[in-house]
Amino acid sequence: MCGIVGYTGPRQAYPVILKGLKRLEYRGYDSAGVALLHEGKIDVYKKKGKVAGLEEMLVGKNLDANMGIGHTRWATHGEPNDRNAHPHSSSNGKLAMIHNGIIENYAQLKNELIKNGYTFTSDTDTEVLLNFIEYIQTNNDCGLEEALRIALKRVTGAYCILLMEQDNPDTIIAARKGSPLVIGIGKGEHFLASDASPIIEYTKEVVYVNDYELAIVKPDELILKNLGNEKVTPYITKLDMQLAAIEKGGYDHFMLKEIFEQPSTIHDCLRGRLDAQAGTITMSGVQEHIEQLKNANRIMIIACGTSWHAGLVAEYVIEELCRIPVEVEYASEFRYRNPIVNKGDVIIAISQSGETADTLVALDRAKENGAFIFGVVNAVGSSIARISHAGAYTHAGPEIGVASTKAFTGQLAVLMMMALKIANEKKTITAEYYQKLLLELNDVPEKVDAILKNAAEIKTIAEKYKDATDFLFLGRGYNFPIALEGALKLKEISYIHAEGYPAAEMKHGPIALVDENLPVVFVATKDSYHEKIVSNMQEIKARKGKIISIITEGDTISPTLSNDCFSIPPADELIAPLLSVIPLQLLSYYTGIAKGIDVDKPRNLAKSVTVE
Ligand code: G6P
Repeated sequence: MCGIVGYTGPRQAYPVILKGLKRLEYRGYDSAGVALLHEGKIDVYKKKGKVAGLEEMLVGKNLDANMGIGHTRWATHGEPNDRNAHPHSSSNGKLAMIHNGIIENYAQLKNELIKNGYTFTSDTDTEVLLNFIEYIQTNNDCGLEEALRIALKRVTGAYCILLMEQDNPDTIIAARKGSPLVIGIGKGEHFLASDASPIIEYTKEVVYVNDYELAIVKPDELILKNLGNEKVTPYITKLDMQLAAIEKGGYDHFMLKEIFEQPSTIHDCLRGRLDAQAGTITMSGVQEHIEQLKNANRIMIIACGTSWHAGLVAEYVIEELCRIPVEVEYASEFRYRNPIVNKGDVIIAISQSGETADTLVALDRAKENGAFIFGVVNAVGSSIARISHAGAYTHAGPEIGVASTKAFTGQLAVLMMMALKIANEKKTITAEYYQKLLLELNDVPEKVDAILKNAAEIKTIAEKYKDATDFLFLGRGYNFPIALEGALKLKEISYIHAEGYPAAEMKHGPIALVDENLPVVFVATKDSYHEKIVSNMQEIKARKGKIISIITEGDTISPTLSNDCFSIPPADELIAPLLSVIPLQLLSYYTGIAKGIDVDKPRNLAKSVTVE
């Protein structure tokens, strides 16, 4: 939700910021803007739409500046237009600010300012906060840093802000609470951004700023302080990210690249952990807390979006293998109800970005109640990774496409390994079955590769059904969450209305939608419920629905009931979701492409949802 970039140092700031904004566009692309300190004045340029539009507008302009800030927006307060685009300027024109987050009490602050003669040029909470800072600075006759500190004590909500001041030509002041901020440390220069992707080509040394910290950033100095004005020692981390990982590498879209990377990302996730021959799983986060995990009275899984679907698969797997009751919660619901969390409960938080606001706050609440938090996170060093008591990274590498693909299979791989390890320790699984699943998990990258080799078949199916207005996705057991995920992917990327349902539950409502125009996708790989799902196919066929089925190689019955079929290699039913989701990812990708949609940046979505 909004990407921010800042630079101060000897380089030209604009190219650094522009490139950074392009990398952060996955966080929002409603508008883009930059503020540059040019010949002693702050020049602000901003425009509705994607970063490329801003770039085009600025061709030929004199943008000479060694300090600047830039923003790519996902609109919260105020519609996406030029006026509401960031950066915002303060009333006296001396300050410029960008913001990622929401100021919840902005209306109250705005009223106070209006009473004091302020007028506003945008509908944003950001302009309110900026003028509030300016007001304090003028009234208290103090410096910007102090004014910011005072203002932030009055603010409720979430923010990561970058501020620049005309009279302070080399200093960016930043603050965060709830929205991420990374500072890259170069030689005589500093880079600021929402994540490390705009920074890695300049330096590998970064500082992750914590909540309630302020950063005063000059070319050759970085000072961190808390809101009480005490200095905090910056903790420097070495980035373990390669530039190639955030580039398209010859693919047309990040989403396609990320789908095709899965054989290697799943392999990377298993590597060093799973030794199928030796029959061992090495996960230090699990091992160090094995007593707590295996004796958990209950496991609660908290997540949003695609990560929530990974949680649903994990529920089935953990209950089956470990015999521990599992509940899967939407973070946004969990945080506002009054959930019962006891000391013996374990919370598993699943998040690609590690920054999702609802998940973060839900975890804080659970922590207050004494729960043990285990994070399954992709983004190394992210907020959720840092607040968890223990965890396991998914090692899928940076995921840029807004629709989550490789992060999801990484989550499944980690959760399967966790379940297997706990079950083995608890002796709730036979040695033979444990060994079988280990070997099967080990074979997943190769099987995913085999599925991807047949991607063209899915492309043909996508083109055939691209004009449908609705889709139904059905699955049972371990494949039920995959049906939900297939429907979510299609909605996100093709704007076709799609619903995921447990195949049998379909009789209690969605069957009313079935006619000769409705494509129904069955995730119907061979498992213990296979005959049941075949009956569900019959029910759809009898009503003339168009059946697209994802089946196991060698299945001879389902093709006779289906209009279109896609086969995947055989696998144990617990492992099958790691395979059956791949054709659904491809289906949404190729449908989106066939409809001419910008699949990496579908409308209204953002990858990292740092507002509630
Ligand atoms: C957004 C993204 C989804 C993602 C969800 C949860 O909606 O578009 O792809 O699944 O947030 O994000 P997280 O980073 O916590 O997994």
